[in-house]
Amino acid sequence: MFDILVTGGAGYIGSHTCVALLEAGFSVVIADDLSNSKFEAVSRIRSITGNKVTFYPYDITDEIELERIFTRHAIRCVVHFAGKKAVGESVEMPLEYYRTNLLSTISLSRVMKRHGVKNIVFSSSATVYGNSKKVPYSEKSPTGNCTNPYAWTKWMNEQILSDVVRSDPDWSVVILRYFNPVGAHTSGKIGEDPLGLPNNLFPYLTQVAVGKLEQLPIYGSDYPTKDGTGIRDYIHVMDLAEGHVSAVRKCLRDFGVQIYNLGSGKGHSVFEVIHAFEEATARKIPYVICPRREGDVSASYASTKKAAEELHWKSRRTLADMCTDAWRWQESNPQGYC
Ligand code: UFG
Repeated sequence: MFDILVTGGAGYIGSHTCVALLEAGFSVVIADDLSNSKFEAVSRIRSITGNKVTFYPYDITDEIELERIFTRHAIRCVVHFAGKKAVGESVEMPLEYYRTNLLSTISLSRVMKRHGVKNIVFSSSATVYGNSKKVPYSEKSPTGNCTNPYAWTKWMNEQILSDVVRSDPDWSVVILRYFNPVGAHTSGKIGEDPLGLPNNLFPYLTQVAVGKLEQLPIYGSDYPTKDGTGIRDYIHVMDLAEGHVSAVRKCLRDFGVQIYNLGSGKGHSVFEVIHAFEEATARKIPYVICPRREGDVSASYASTKKAAEELHWKSRRTLADMCTDAWRWQESNPQGYC
């Protein structure tokens, strides 16, 4: 029996992926320093799956701490989520972002190498497509031209891992470029729990619905889209989590670097999301039109062909499912994890 190490496994996408991996029969070890997550998420993963997941409150940039995990466990593959992820904050604190996000990948890869573990699934983002305008984005679309340090760290990590494979073709690296993960596990026990004021549309929307925030700011209604608001590819976080299970299987089977978009392939505007949310929850969402947010593109959605062909994975859940599940989580946990 071998283990899958999930770094950042107490976070939003990490916790849902742990549930999907455990339900698929994998044995999971979590390393997460809880700098942007809570231990309660780990307890809830255990309660959903009935499984005793091993947890280490370790900092992934610290090779000594990582050594302890690799010595104690027969790790076969790593799913690497740990890192900082707020676009705006990355503009204010670039050094923190470069240090944490690059050093974590470098330390992890060095320790993996010492222990002969050469399989890694990396959590990247559609943000690497930068301000390239041609949608849908395929894995061959140009990358770079990033608009903030967070995006550059994703782009640079992709480069670092590709160079590791170039130096040793026995490595297997699967890079997953996520579009907009939203929603929550249907149990309502785990979900997105941002610290402070939410940056993203869905947590803002659910916090308005639950009465924590007054109204939703809509950033721009003059984009060249069908109703003037920005278009994004929203993907249910459990679909995304299941995509990781397929990616781990692929990673264990193959060698080299494989890159996949994980999205639904469908674009929805901000107004469409608000209407779908109102319909799914029978709540009215007050909103106010604001100026465009700096760095936002008008439309971003994925070509999902490659993931369907090679990972045999497709998103199944609808926008209505995303709204219902996001709301169930928020309504049963108005203060997030306490
Ligand atoms: N939006 C609002 N009001 C809000 C928040 C967002 O109108 O309060 C709009 C945005 O302008 C955009 C859409 O809702 O049109 C989605 O915005 P999000 O902030 O939810 O998501 P982004 O597409 O901006 O960002 C996401 C991830 C980033 C990642 C990026 C590109 O959060 O980590 O996709 O892949 F870098």
